[in-house]
Amino acid sequence: MPLPWTPAFPVRTERLDLRAHTPADLSDLFEFHSDPEVVRYIPWPVRTLDETRFALLAKDAQKRVDSEGQWLVLAIELRETGKVVGEVLLKYSDEDAEEGELGFALHGGYQRRGLGYEAAHAMLALGFGEFGLRTITATLDARNAASAALLDKLGMTRTALVPDRPFKGELVDELHYAISSERFV
Ligand SMILES: CC(C)(COP(=O)(O)OP(=O)(O)OC[C@H]1O[C@@H](n2cnc3c(N)ncnc32)[C@H](O)[C@@H]1OP(=O)(O)O)[C@@H](O)C(=O)NCCC(=O)NCCS
Repeated sequence: MPLPWTPAFPVRTERLDLRAHTPADLSDLFEFHSDPEVVRYIPWPVRTLDETRFALLAKDAQKRVDSEGQWLVLAIELRETGKVVGEVLLKYSDEDAEEGELGFALHGGYQRRGLGYEAAHAMLALGFGEFGLRTITATLDARNAASAALLDKLGMTRTALVPDRPFKGELVDELHYAISSERFV
């Protein structure tokens, strides 16, 4: 497995540049990190500006992955305007199994335009290509219909439903998805 993961930025898609975060991204990030609808099914709290600033600081170390357990966290920049409209993540979750875990979040005003798919597909391509992963998984709250639809569109398969998982103070049903390198198109 080639480590570290140090993709050449930007990773270009049709409409997006995926790249490392910079301090200048704070106001764009705050727009969606502070949105209760966006963070409803992700582990982050609804963030204040200071909490977003702190989260952004941590992302500087997440522009590369040096070992198992770390997340690669890339800003989703809309090339046309330069605005950061989301983030896409890939964790090196299991070195022995050559497995990664996908994550994503998009600004509410930019959803349902295919941008989540474009960013997530590019991250899967990086994971299976440059990083040599065999499998990429995703875990979500079973109520998160948007995320399930995106994973379906990516060709990922539902592998498990795990009931009664603690999440933000309640017990929820959790869905697990996976895709192998052979099935990725
Ligand atoms: C999940 C998320 C990234 C999807 O991004 P997006 O850019 O809106 O998704 P896309 O436009 O690329 O759509 C991908 C597919 O999902 C479908 N979809 C998107 N939102 C949907 C919704 N709310 N309900 C049902 N289907 C939805 C689209 O129709 C599309 O399928 P189709 O092409 O077959 O019609 C976005 O809703 C989001 O950021 N949600 C909040 C954060 C979150 O929950 N992250 C995931 C944690 S596991």
